[in-house]
Amino acid sequence: MVSTTYNICTLPGDGIGPEIMAEGKRVLSAVGAAYDVDFVCEDHLIGGSAIDTTRDNGENVTALPAETLQAAQAADAVLLAAVGGPKWDDLSASVRPEQGLLAIRKNLHLFLNLRPVHIYRALRDASPLRPERLKGVDLLIVRELTGGLYFGEHKREDHVEGAGVNGRAGSFASDVMQYSEYEIERVVRWAYEAAQGRRGKVTSVDKANVLATSRLWREVNHRIAKDYLDVESSDMLVDNSAMQLVANPAQFDVLVTENTFGDILSDEASMLTGSLGMLASASLGDGTALYEPSHGSAPDIAGKGIANPLAQILSVSLMLRYSFKMDEAAATLDAAVEDVLDAGWRTADLADSATPVSKVLGTREMGDKVIEAFNKCCAK
Ligand code: IPM
Ligand code: MG
Repeated sequence: MVSTTYNICTLPGDGIGPEIMAEGKRVLSAVGAAYDVDFVCEDHLIGGSAIDTTRDNGENVTALPAETLQAAQAADAVLLAAVGGPKWDDLSASVRPEQGLLAIRKNLHLFLNLRPVHIYRALRDASPLRPERLKGVDLLIVRELTGGLYFGEHKREDHVEGAGVNGRAGSFASDVMQYSEYEIERVVRWAYEAAQGRRGKVTSVDKANVLATSRLWREVNHRIAKDYLDVESSDMLVDNSAMQLVANPAQFDVLVTENTFGDILSDEASMLTGSLGMLASASLGDGTALYEPSHGSAPDIAGKGIANPLAQILSVSLMLRYSFKMDEAAATLDAAVEDVLDAGWRTADLADSATPVSKVLGTREMGDKVIEAFNKCCAK
């Protein structure tokens, strides 16, 4: 039998990135071995490590080298870990690690970002919310990813007449929030399609009482809702949504929203799971899709071997599902993660005072446990 080959462009990035990526790759090879698929991973530079390397080589300093973008475009999927860190945090620097991430999203036309929030039964106590509030929580955040404030014009002017205190000259800055109808439509439509395969509910989040972009968003949502009469549709203001996410998170099924609101609400929603270290994400669009944890590069614990690799591993699962239609393998991997947590294994971020020290694992050991559980699930 000839096995399938998939080429994965892997972007370890900065901070804990390389450590969690190593586990993502090991899990991928375990999946490949079980399902007779050859996943060929090739590392490329992005973020702070790209800035440093291009600078050291005397090239144009960039957080997304052209060679990385080409490799990503040519690959069957992109797996990214994390970018950024204090070393590159100078807000006045002309090139910043995050630009690499934004540029790859834009250039791969990844307009749709999915962040599933799933509560692991074993982690109910790790959430800051009382366990009874988590009952029935299972939501999918659909975030618009290539528009809005992130990609409108960013402007800064200094020595502007009257912009300082007491009428003196000072600085002025502006960011433009902008959306075209088609950018809203393709994301909102996707949310309705997804809801049909779930609990049949879409909550569209906006700030239509203030923003013109939000009024357009809401109008488009109402129009599209008419094509999906089997889906229950509602609008919710973003401030209220932030409150409802902690007051009654079980009411949400699919939550669809624009770029900045989605960024903020998905970090908030991640805490329902107990740790930002559990939230995976898939960015989809016209071409190659990209999969990454929703968390950052955690520079404070980088290089210590204690980072939680589960969001990276769960991003591999999303990749299997969305890019390779390997639903069974993805479900098996998800079940393996659930089994490991059920057995009481934790990384430091998931441990609490009741966790025995002997159950707290480092990054690699957690990878081992998941692979072991995956192989056991496959053997069943
Ligand atoms: C995310 C991150 C990024 C974003 C940053 C690193 C630019 O917070 O993926 O949520 O704001 O989109
Ligand atoms: Mg974010």
